[in-house]
Amino acid sequence: MELADVQDDLTEVLLTADQIDAKIAELARAVEADYADRDPLLVGVLKGAVMVMADFARELKMSAAMDWMAVSSYGSGTKSSGVVRILKDLDTDLHGRDVLIVEDIIDSGLTLSWLRENLLSRGAASVEIVALLRKPEAAKVHVDVRYVGFDIPNAFVVGYGLDYAERYRNLRGVGVLAPHVYS
Ligand code: IMP
Ligand code: MG
Repeated sequence: MELADVQDDLTEVLLTADQIDAKIAELARAVEADYADRDPLLVGVLKGAVMVMADFARELKMSAAMDWMAVSSYGSGTKSSGVVRILKDLDTDLHGRDVLIVEDIIDSGLTLSWLRENLLSRGAASVEIVALLRKPEAAKVHVDVRYVGFDIPNAFVVGYGLDYAERYRNLRGVGVLAPHVYS
């Protein structure tokens, strides 16, 4: 669905589908250059990263395997709990692999800093992160993210994979969710 289809549920449009497409292409060019002689494994974090993964992986002009993890740090609320639990693990042996975590958003950074350490402890040769969105003001821990799409304000956003209570993931753009929807 389009931003206009849920305009009453949003206080602000942050990114249109076109802006996202252009940024995904930019990120793909950077990754192609850095991984030219390597065989990266793309690890998507379910469910939020499905749209980024689908578009980013197809935009890459090189073959790249994909695997998926599901972790929970949120429940259905709008604040990070800091508690990370693996709900679905990878199928791939990480020994010697150059892992590229593909994420929708870095909020507190708690999920990603935990995830990077977890994947390194399984023998990955390297673990870098591609994240479409980052909220710099929300950072609770520093995470070194090599590929960032957009820095956005510290507001609860939905769309392009990001949900509120499982809704709005199928929105093509990204917008700030209106408080009347969750309060
Ligand atoms: P963290 O606070 O960096 O650990 O964020 C963990 C996860 O919370 C992200 O991967 C998202 O799935 C979710 N999340 C964080 N901020 C938002 C938001 O503004 N809208 C929807 N989901 C979010
Ligand atoms: Mg996520």
